[in-house]
Amino acid sequence: MVQFTLPKNSKIRVGKTWPRPEGAKNTRKFKIYRWDPDTGENPRVDTYFLDMDRCGPMVLDALLKIKNEIDPTLTFRRSCREGICGSCAMNIDGINTLACIYGLDEIKGDVRIYPLPHMPVVKDLVPDLTLFYAQHASIMPFLQTTTNKPEKEWLQSIEDRKKLDGLYECVMCASCSTSCPSYWWNSDRYLGPAALLHAYRWIIDSRDEATAERLDALEDPFKLYRCHTIMNCAKTCPKGLNPAKAIAEIKRLMVSRHV
Ligand code: SF4
Ligand code: FES
Repeated sequence: MVQFTLPKNSKIRVGKTWPRPEGAKNTRKFKIYRWDPDTGENPRVDTYFLDMDRCGPMVLDALLKIKNEIDPTLTFRRSCREGICGSCAMNIDGINTLACIYGLDEIKGDVRIYPLPHMPVVKDLVPDLTLFYAQHASIMPFLQTTTNKPEKEWLQSIEDRKKLDGLYECVMCASCSTSCPSYWWNSDRYLGPAALLHAYRWIIDSRDEATAERLDALEDPFKLYRCHTIMNCAKTCPKGLNPAKAIAEIKRLMVSRHV
């Protein structure tokens, strides 16, 4: 019989249930993952009740209300609260998404909130994105040129500029990469959908002059070819982008430059 040894701190226990708000007629239950590495204890799921007549419409509104009025120790990232900074990505009701643009009315029943899956956790809902950012940096996410700088700016036709639509809007939230089974098992070597979407964004930029070098850097059995077109990335992206399509385009360019 196969026996598994679970890593330390992987078992989740039942946590604290906070009291219901007094006099509230319209309450909702929130079950939220909590883990504080400083305590040495296993993670737990705490239960909170909110008066929905006094809460904003988004999941982030509920988290802020819990933090401000019930439990100031609840830890999560957020900044812009309008889907632009990418910092509030978490797993809500089983979906990796942005808490600030995910409506509470999209969730049936209790609201379950966990950190992005398959990432080390810093605390509570905060994942450690060190590797994710390093992978983004590895694809050289900036314009590379060899010709002399133009006097004013690098020009681009309207048609070429349009090729960047569906790519430049990425807010680096990591929802896609952390929804990808290939990334879960091979994140040390597979770059993942977000980094590859950015790689393609620079590969097809008409102003960039390092296309061959960019493709050379990705010609690797793991960095690019661990994408098996599972499509979770496109399904989950809160900005409606399609990293799988970008990856397929890179693969197509790889083939076409060899024929
Ligand atoms: S492609 Fe979408 S899900 Fe992936 S990092 Fe960018 S915005 Fe987030
Ligand atoms: S707070 Fe910026 S994307 Fe949600």
